[in-house]
Order: sequence, then structure tokens, then C-alpha cells
Amino acid sequence: MIYLDNSATTPMHPEVIDVMTDVMKKIFGNPSSLHGLGAKAERLVEQARQVTARMLGCTPQEIFFTSGGTEANNLAIKGTLDRIHGRGKHIITTKVEHPSVYEVYEQLKKRGWRVTYLSVDSLGRVNPDEVEKAVDDETVLVSVMHVNNEVGTIQPIGEIGKRLAKYPKVLFHVDAVQSFAKLPLLPARAHIDLLSISAHKIHGPKGIGALYVRKNLSLEPLLVGGGQEKGLRSGTEYVPGIAGLAKAIVLAEQKRTEFLRNSQRWKKAFLERLDGKLSPMIVNGDISPEGCAPYILSLSFPGIKSEVLVHALEEEGIYVSSKSACSSKAEIPSRVLKAMGRTDEEAIGSIRISMGFQTTAEEMERCADVLLRVIPRLQKVMKVHKG
Ligand SMILES: Cc1ncc(COP(=O)(O)O)c(C=O)c1O
Repeated sequence: MIYLDNSATTPMHPEVIDVMTDVMKKIFGNPSSLHGLGAKAERLVEQARQVTARMLGCTPQEIFFTSGGTEANNLAIKGTLDRIHGRGKHIITTKVEHPSVYEVYEQLKKRGWRVTYLSVDSLGRVNPDEVEKAVDDETVLVSVMHVNNEVGTIQPIGEIGKRLAKYPKVLFHVDAVQSFAKLPLLPARAHIDLLSISAHKIHGPKGIGALYVRKNLSLEPLLVGGGQEKGLRSGTEYVPGIAGLAKAIVLAEQKRTEFLRNSQRWKKAFLERLDGKLSPMIVNGDISPEGCAPYILSLSFPGIKSEVLVHALEEEGIYVSSKSACSSKAEIPSRVLKAMGRTDEEAIGSIRISMGFQTTAEEMERCADVLLRVIPRLQKVMKVHKG
């Protein structure tokens, strides 16, 4: 099996599984319990908070564990807006956000918030000038993702943060789920107030993530109850998951430099292998080393439906992602690719290839070779169908 769908989720690292198994067996106390077993679990949670904070260059007090990126994004946005009554009614995001941000803004629009959805260029990038232009007296929150999950384009977060820092009333939220522990981004340096992360994109477990909340910023909780996470996120802590997240971060610290170097090299070799041999083929997003996460590659083959291609690759033992399917399996072109100016046909015929720490050069070569064989065959079949 060749697994190249690491932006959807990554296989857990065996050492993460070992740590979690150990915690499940031995440190099963409730961190809120007053006895020694509880204290042990609490210590583990606090150690993990320190590890997470170190990766983000912040203090442990600024880290709040959640059930993942979706909850972190919801908490960042709704928790902010629920707290700042009357300070303004305008919020800004982009047309290419992950649904866990985009759909929250859609929900808020229905509740009466004025929402600006920023456009992107053909590479999927927002212009910091446009962000600043969109800010008005009523603006209270801006959400811009770091790395786009469909095409890998990196947004100019540092520059946007610098611009927004001129407007003290405006809070800046960044969804860093696709970049955390891989690409450097320090919230304080980039003037970020809120930043979301998730463990399962870095070979950690599913169902655990965290929200960075800048010091002195107060949010309204989404979940109330026992008052865990300093009252911001009630619910007994998922201790094995939190320990697994910390282990995944430590492993990422060791592996990321080599991973970035390799994935950049392999992506380039992959595209060179296909170069000029498959037509029509479009590379979506930025592929420059500075402008794109090297571990994500999005390709469009207009005329071929991505589901068909995903299944054809699966028959060859290669797992990639299609971006056109929604839950109903209807052919809805990707909102992200449409925002980048792709036609419906181009957006429906896209696949995403994404690498993880376990990916090898040989796997990428094999994937390219299979595409070289499979695409012309599918193109022929599609032509016959159309004819
Ligand atoms: C950019 C981005 N944000 C948020 C999420 C949601 O994270 P989680 O699956 O941990 O809820 C994802 C997951 O695909 C993502 O890619």
C-alpha cells in the first residue's frame, strides 16, 4: 500500500501508539482527582502542555486542549464573538478556509454578523492589502488559514498579522492545522491572537488538538461543566490523546527538517516525471518552495472525474484524495479551486497527493508512473462515453 493522503490524516507513529497504550494501562486517573493517580495524569497533561507551548514559542498557560482542529476553530471564533458584545458586528475570512472555519462564518452570517469573504489569486493566496482594506470600524475578528489543506498554498500570515496589529480591536485567528509542527509559525511573532492545531495531521491520534489563546485574551467557552482547561473547555481531559499529541510533537521536531527537504525534492522530481507527458494536466496552487507546503500537491485532469481517478489509483494500491466529493457524493466542484479561478471541469477532476513522515522517494516515483499509465486510459474511456 502507498498512502499519499496524509493531509486527510496520518498513520500514527508506532512510538505514539506505545506512549498512549502505556498511559491507558497505567495512568488512567482523572486529572481532577485529588489522589496520586489523578496527580500523575495531571502531571502528564501539564508536561504535554509545555511541549505544545514550546513548539509554538508561547507559554503553557496559552495552550488549551480541545477535541481537535474543528473544535479549536469553533472555539476561537464563537468563543471570541460571544465575549465581545457590542464592540462590532463585522468579521473577515477567506474563500478558501477549511469547512470548520468557513461553515462557522456561514452560520454567523445567518445570525446577523456582516461577513467579508476575501478572494484569492490563481495560486490560492490572499493579498494582505485586501485584508487591511476589508477592515472597518466594526471589524472584530479575522480568520486566515496558514497552509491550505487542498492545494498547500501558504498564506502570508506574518504580513497579515503585522497589518492587523495596527487595529487593536481586531483579533487575528489562524487555522494552522496543516502546518503545525512542520512549518515554522510562532503566534507572538506573527501577531496572532488565536491559533488552532490538531494531532492527527502529525502522526498523532485523532480526537485531540489545541487552541493557542494569547495571554490576557478571554473567550466564552463552547462547553461548560466541570471547568477543566481553566474553565474554557469543560470535560475530562483525553489524557492518552494529550500524551500522544506531545509525543507526536517531539517526533516532528526531530523529523521535520529532513521531511521538508525530502518532500520538496520528491515533489519536484514527481512533476518532472510527469512533465509534458499528460495533457491536459494542471498543477493547482503555488509550487514554489517559499509559497507552498512541499508535502501537498494538487493536480487537475479535466475530463476525468476525481472519484474515478481515486478508485483507479486505489486498484493499484495507491491512496490519494479527491476534493470534489461531498457527503452526498454529488459532483460539487471544490470551493477552494473555484475561488482560484478553476472551471467546474478542472475543479471536478482534481486529486490531492500528500506526503507524511513515512513517505519514500520510491512511493512518489511509483505514484507518478501509475498516473502516466492510468490517465491516458481513463481519458480514452471518458472520450468514448462522451462520444
Ligand atoms: C486546515 C484544516 N483545519 C481544520 C481541520 C479539522 O481538524 P480535525 O480533523 O482535527 O477536526 C482540518 C482537517 O482536515 C484541516 O485540514
